[in-house]
Amino acid sequence: MRTQVGIVGGGPAGLLLAHLLHLRGVESVVLERRSREELESEIRAGVLEQGTVDLLNEIGVGERMMKEGAFHRGVNLQFGGRRHRIDFQDLVGRGIMLYGQHEVVKDLISARLASGGEIVFEAQALAVEGADTESPVVRYADRSGREEELSCDFVAGCDGFHGVCRPSIPETARREYERHYPFGWFGILVEAPRSSEELIYCLHERGFALISTRSPQIQRMYLQCDPDDDVANWPDERVWEELHARLAMAEDGWRLKEGPILQKNIVAMRSFICEPMRYGRLFLAGDAAHIVPPTGAKGMNLAVADVRVLCEAITGFYASGRTDLLDAYSERCLRRVWKAQRFSWWMTSMLHRFHGEDEFRYRLQLAELDYVTGSRAASTSLAENYTGLPME
Ligand code: DHB
Repeated sequence: MRTQVGIVGGGPAGLLLAHLLHLRGVESVVLERRSREELESEIRAGVLEQGTVDLLNEIGVGERMMKEGAFHRGVNLQFGGRRHRIDFQDLVGRGIMLYGQHEVVKDLISARLASGGEIVFEAQALAVEGADTESPVVRYADRSGREEELSCDFVAGCDGFHGVCRPSIPETARREYERHYPFGWFGILVEAPRSSEELIYCLHERGFALISTRSPQIQRMYLQCDPDDDVANWPDERVWEELHARLAMAEDGWRLKEGPILQKNIVAMRSFICEPMRYGRLFLAGDAAHIVPPTGAKGMNLAVADVRVLCEAITGFYASGRTDLLDAYSERCLRRVWKAQRFSWWMTSMLHRFHGEDEFRYRLQLAELDYVTGSRAASTSLAENYTGLPME
């Protein structure tokens, strides 16, 4: 099979790139390891930056998001049993959309199929060959296990952290930066009404907790846990006890709304960046190139920003043969990626309990939260980063 752009991975990065390219007259084929059903049901984060919301609307895939998503104008930070609101709208004139990543994926798959584009589901990419030539090839196994080849002009590596694209770049041609955190997130999906109009990020002596939402009926909540913990250690009663303890307020009146727990999972916390994000005609985008810890929900938004830059570079090449945008791809993306990495690291460091460390660190975290919520300058910095730094 032959196409202009071979896209490895049908998550938000790969699907969005396919749609953006299609709108600009460039053809592509998406290879996706999972089935459509698996892809559409994977529960991931659910916060879209203002710029992501605007882009989805501009390209005609935002209709359901505008109907079913919830637009939030601020978030709450809780510490010392008190809750403080950061008013994004007032501080930076922007907000965020709460809409699950798998819902975005569903909308992008519909758009892709409606436009007659190709997604090969259950296609296991095996290797990218000839990335340093003008005709790279993606080798993959189809659902029956038969080996196939996709020849293209460019390969977009949108296949996530564990995909084959990044390792296809010779080790001598890339450098990786990494940080692990001594905790994970225990996440639940709950069938219950919302407990709060807006998200609550909470630091408590027992650890971090986060109240988020998916719809008026379905809520998403997280608790800091041991990174090697097992969901089997968390019966429902323990989950509720811990959430109640961490989210308790000094002056009462607020109460967390419980309901049946539909799903439990543990999210690992790591920071990772691969530089550069390009090798010859292979371009990495999204989790294949970088991972942020979840605090602040930057993951999918970074993927969206990457493919936006990549689409411009590829369409520029086809329109006039120019290669300067392709050459600038990695650097342009990495400037934004490092800033989002810094923000996610900062939110993570401020809001989690580092149990092995002394009280001095914890007191500094509380002072930082007091400063962030008390100073308009500091709140503005949080709001600016949280709602998304402007595209260049
Ligand atoms: C969610 C995830 C996040 O990482 C975050 O910072 C806020 C919300 C969520 O899944 O809803």
